[in-house]
Amino acid sequence: MSASRDRRIILEEARRALEAQLAIGDRTPELLEEACRILEHSVPWYDWVGIYLVEGDELVLAAWSGPAATEHVRIPIGQGICGAAAREGQTIIVPDVREDPRYLQCFLSTRSEIVVPIRRGGTVIGEIDIDSDRLAAFDEDDRVLLEWLAERLAERLPQAGTAAV
Ligand code: SME
Repeated sequence: MSASRDRRIILEEARRALEAQLAIGDRTPELLEEACRILEHSVPWYDWVGIYLVEGDELVLAAWSGPAATEHVRIPIGQGICGAAAREGQTIIVPDVREDPRYLQCFLSTRSEIVVPIRRGGTVIGEIDIDSDRLAAFDEDDRVLLEWLAERLAERLPQAGTAAV
C-alpha cells in the first residue's frame, strides 16, 4: 500500500471520528476539546493541535491537545503564521517553519505547521492550528479534512456578541 493511500485512510478515519463527535451535540467548549483530541490522537503526524477563537484583534486559545501547553495563548492578528492566516482568511501550510520569518516558535521539535481559518460569511471567527515534528507533514488531503472541520465548527460556534458558548 502506498504512503499516500495510508495517509488518506488515516485522515478518513479521523473524519469519521469527528463526524460522530459532531453528531453528539456537545456544548461548544467540549466539542472544541474533543475535536483537538481526536485529531491529535488519530493522525500520527499531528503532534500538537489547537483551536483559537477571534476576540477583538487577537486570537485566543480555546482548546488544545498535545504533549505540552503553548505560551502563545493570545496572538495578535497579523503576528505569526496564525495571525497571518487569520488576516488573509486563507489556509497556510508551512513545510519548514525554520524557513518562514513569520513563524512564532512554541516547541523546539516543530518542523511544519498548517493553519486553517474558521470563517462565517466573510469573517474569520477562529482557526485550527496544527504543528508537526515532521518536515513537510501537511498536504492537500490535510487541508481538505481541516477545511471541512472548520466549516462544521463555524456552524456550531456562537454568533459574535451573543451569550457565552
Ligand atoms: N507557531 C504559531 C504560534 C502558535 S503555536 O504553534 C501553538 C505561529 O507561528 O503563529
